[in-house]
Amino acid sequence: MNILLGVSSGIAIYKAVDLVSKMRKQGWNIQIIMTENAAKLVNPIVFSAVGDCKVYTDTYEIEAGWIIHTELSKWADVLLVAPATANTIAKLANGIADNLLTTTALAFAKDKRIIVPTMNTRMYENELTLENIEKMRQHGWHVLEPESGHLACGDVGKGRYPENEKIIEFLKIIMSEKLLKNKKVLVTAGPTQEELDPVRYISNHSSGKMGYAIAQAAKRFGAEVCLVTGPTCLTFPYFVDEVVLVRSAKQMYDTVLEKKEDYDILIMCAAVADYAPKMVSKEKIKKTNDNLTIELEKTPDILYSIGMSKRERQFVVGFAAETENVVENAFEKLRRKNADLIVANDARLAMGSDTNSVYLIFKNKAMVQLDGTKEEIAEELLKRICKELS
Ligand SMILES: Cc1cc2nc3c(=O)[nH]c(=O)nc-3n(C[C@H](O)[C@H](O)[C@H](O)COP(=O)(O)O)c2cc1C
Repeated sequence: MNILLGVSSGIAIYKAVDLVSKMRKQGWNIQIIMTENAAKLVNPIVFSAVGDCKVYTDTYEIEAGWIIHTELSKWADVLLVAPATANTIAKLANGIADNLLTTTALAFAKDKRIIVPTMNTRMYENELTLENIEKMRQHGWHVLEPESGHLACGDVGKGRYPENEKIIEFLKIIMSEKLLKNKKVLVTAGPTQEELDPVRYISNHSSGKMGYAIAQAAKRFGAEVCLVTGPTCLTFPYFVDEVVLVRSAKQMYDTVLEKKEDYDILIMCAAVADYAPKMVSKEKIKKTNDNLTIELEKTPDILYSIGMSKRERQFVVGFAAETENVVENAFEKLRRKNADLIVANDARLAMGSDTNSVYLIFKNKAMVQLDGTKEEIAEELLKRICKELS
């Protein structure tokens, strides 16, 4: 993917340096244009070094045989302006082409144009700025809204530069094929916590990374996404439509069962506790005896319940985390729970890691092995599900 990054002179420009670093890690090809004012805030050599690319600032720079603004606009698949100042937005909205960035933007004929407006709240809330942003939207620009919070000038309000991870996800959403358009996807993720007393619980090592990656990829592919998650340390996936935070297996069961009818694809990725304490002590359990016996009881089986009651054209996916006989157990689970697909993995390798190795076990006894980052596996899994549904 060829990305042309336009940098204007907002105070968040220092964060845009890190954006370039993160974009590079994605393996994307980058070229950068800075406005003259942006080059007064941060020297272009910083962007050039971090991006390992040329940085352009001057429309009239002599490059043998080519005119910079037309060549760059032809080269790029996406034009991203971040940070986008009120001034640059006003120019872009009105077709002004008085520097290399605005001239190139006017010559950029594709629909993948993005601005990330960042500025002081009063500048942002000025009717003229809001009108300019709206005008750009109507002319096909994608707008990543600024965040609210503490601003560099000391004010509190809307205008903050979003996290770079969010900008990158916005780019991915815009660039991805909408394979799951008009589909509703429900994903469960993370561990559950089964309360023992007011300060203790029984849980497991699930990080939630696999489920979060699936929810994120489903959104990228155009689905309406609900994530039901147990407690994790992760940032919620960006732009998903609904996140329901639960703690116990029973809460997760109730939430999924209440919602399941509305969804076309149900992906049960959470590491749900199979057993929970039969009694929850009202007070902290004291260390008075040498031994402590806790009686456990089975928790409700979410995958079994939705598998047995699934409606026509509803696709149910279960995850199987095993430590032995991974594939054999997964085939058995597929049958027992009436799922359409089981994703089997070795719990010891999968939990907490950024990568995974999984087997997709289908109803027709087909088996596919996927290796890679959890993001890669999530995308491939969803593509395979789309194939099954088509
Ligand atoms: C330290 C500093 C920080 C600034 N931060 C912002 C900002 O965050 N957003 C904005 O719209 N303008 C900001 N400005 C004002 C712009 O730099 C100014 O409007 C400039 O003319 C924009 O030029 P450009 O759009 O060509 O980069 C800032 C100015 C200074 C001196």
